[in-house]
Amino acid sequence: MKATQILTEEHKIILKALDCLEKFVLESKAQNELDAAIAEIFFDFIENFADKTHHSKEEDLLFIAMNKYGLSMEMGPIAVMLEEHEQGRNCVLGMKDALESSNIEGFSVNATNFIGMLRNHIYKEDNILYPMANNSFPESESTKLLNDFHEVEALNGNIRIRNFYNLAKNLCKKYEVPFLADSEIPNLKSEFL
Ligand SMILES: [Fe+2]
Ligand SMILES: [Fe+2]
Repeated sequence: MKATQILTEEHKIILKALDCLEKFVLESKAQNELDAAIAEIFFDFIENFADKTHHSKEEDLLFIAMNKYGLSMEMGPIAVMLEEHEQGRNCVLGMKDALESSNIEGFSVNATNFIGMLRNHIYKEDNILYPMANNSFPESESTKLLNDFHEVEALNGNIRIRNFYNLAKNLCKKYEVPFLADSEIPNLKSEFL
């Protein structure tokens, strides 16, 4: 198994949460009310799973490995991905500011930008960046990355991915979004869940 397969399967969980966030935004606008407790659940997922769990595997491990095998961090696809991670963080700050002032329109604009940007980002990683990574370094590097992923998760008592997988599953139930079948995330299931 390639280490990037784990990241692609994490993307599937993130995409499900984005579908739910989209429904939350529509519901908030329709009811002209922002439920702060639910917004906090989305912030927890985005900041602690999409960013701290997933993006840190990319920024601290995958991109560094790609750089070791000759890909620039300052220009080209890795630089674009890093820039988009920053854009996402700014959208979340915008969503938080809007929530504080109960500004539904502001929340909606930032959330919609975030959802569109991240879906596009994930598409580019799955279809361009990860294949590029797999072509740029040898199998031994992929195996090392996978071991590093395990180490990162072990530092968190191996519960982080499981907790956020369950959180996304519950959100999907609430917003009537079909959740992932085990067969869609076979590597994540056998390695981390
Ligand atoms: Fe990324
Ligand atoms: Fe990613």
